[in-house]
Amino acid sequence: MPEILLTELIEGPAVERLGERYEVTCLPDIWRNPVGLRTAMQDVRAVIVRNQTQLTRELIENAKQLEVIGRAGAGLDNIDTVAAEQLGVAVRNTPAENSLAVAELVMGLMLSMARELPAAISETRAGGWSRQKFTGVELSGKTLGLVGFGRIGQLVARRAAAFGMKIVAHDAYLPKDSCMLQELGVSLLGFDELLGVANIVSCHVPLTAETQGMFNSVAFAKMQQGSWFINAARGEVVCEEALLASLVSEQIGAAALDVREVEPPVDVQGAGLASLKNVYLTPHIGAFTVEAQTRVLESVCNDVIDVLDGK
Ligand code: MLT
Repeated sequence: MPEILLTELIEGPAVERLGERYEVTCLPDIWRNPVGLRTAMQDVRAVIVRNQTQLTRELIENAKQLEVIGRAGAGLDNIDTVAAEQLGVAVRNTPAENSLAVAELVMGLMLSMARELPAAISETRAGGWSRQKFTGVELSGKTLGLVGFGRIGQLVARRAAAFGMKIVAHDAYLPKDSCMLQELGVSLLGFDELLGVANIVSCHVPLTAETQGMFNSVAFAKMQQGSWFINAARGEVVCEEALLASLVSEQIGAAALDVREVEPPVDVQGAGLASLKNVYLTPHIGAFTVEAQTRVLESVCNDVIDVLDGK
């Protein structure tokens, strides 16, 4: 009988060490099947998930032996944390361990957009040598608007500042006198004001009832014409239909999305966001660096052991 259930592909030395002390079972596809998940969770003491497993109240209630939910990542939007707390089940996430990886991906996406790197690479690979065609733009001197100025937003700001970008931020929860603003030379603006001044808007908010769909047609219309939009936070923060319309009308000049409204997305070949040349899509890989995953798995496995050991 497994004591710890891993409901997505979660592997590595930290997981192996977990297996030396506890009976661990990994069912990497069980998150797709709520009925199977219910049965698999029935007698386990711990469950470790990434972001695809939806841990509802019903599932948590049914898992009578459950002591701890480990979240190998930062976002808690896929876990009913209120239910867990009411039912006495501890929830342990890794709020900081993959922030740097996400921030570096955002820089990579910005540079890819500025220099059209994916197209330049694939055309050159195919034998092309079109130099003028790939005349890009510089990040230096551009205004970057960070919506959400928590750990990841601040890491992006530090890196963007080194590129000579001007940085403005909006964060509904950050105190106006936060020392991070001064340290990083960042101006705190209202949401609408930020949308109006930024050349590039990058989203770094968690998914909550407040942020769901905050990037809608109204928000895109307030952005500067031809500005760029980046989302490596949560897909549901963006209304994709509105983004698509804004790209088609050229209100938005380009977009880079590491996260989608539905994951994996149901993109129709040759249609929608995936069909546009100025849309840069990656498969929710923000947290996926060797270093970040090592930190994440060490942290979540240690936390789960601590809870099971009664610490
Ligand atoms: C996170 O929330 O940590 C990242 O989006 C990666 C993930 O969901 O696993």
